[in-house]
Amino acid sequence: MIEMTANKPELYRDLARQLSALIAGEPDPIANAANTAAVIYQGLPNLNWAGFYFRNGAELVLGPFQGKPACVRIPIGKGVCGTAAATGATVLVPDVHDFPGHIACDPDSRSELVVPLIEDGSVLGVLDLDSPLPGRFDELDREGCEQLVAVLLVHQRKHPRGKLSSNFDDRARDRR
Ligand code: SME
Repeated sequence: MIEMTANKPELYRDLARQLSALIAGEPDPIANAANTAAVIYQGLPNLNWAGFYFRNGAELVLGPFQGKPACVRIPIGKGVCGTAAATGATVLVPDVHDFPGHIACDPDSRSELVVPLIEDGSVLGVLDLDSPLPGRFDELDREGCEQLVAVLLVHQRKHPRGKLSSNFDDRARDRR
């Protein structure tokens, strides 16, 4: 595990470069979301979960992630992920024990950062990072993770057939 560097912005710039290189030329949104989760989980210290939930109607449904198996469906508005999806704003929770309605997929999780994925004003889903350390995330993590989400979204916008969608319908249609 990399030690948290003194220069967090530089670490996030490096992760953004890695991510851009990994997804370059690849339209598939699930593959690219999976590699995004892996870049984050492998690149940031002190995480016990990193991954995506995608919106499907009034729910978030589990997407590609790294870490222990997690809750599959989260109602929009519930928990930290559902709150980020409902408000369209990043939610940083220093101690999940102090967040009413927090959904404890893993009792080891103590702090959480959730960044919404927003396209044309609508929430496609969220990126969720969990840590076993209270207070693991700060404003630099918020900025860095919002930047990583932007790298993924800008890339997917260039690949309309590989648009990040709320379910697998587009992929199923492509196979027919
Ligand atoms: N703790 C989250 C649920 C998702 S898991 O942490 C992977 C929440 O309250 O939304």
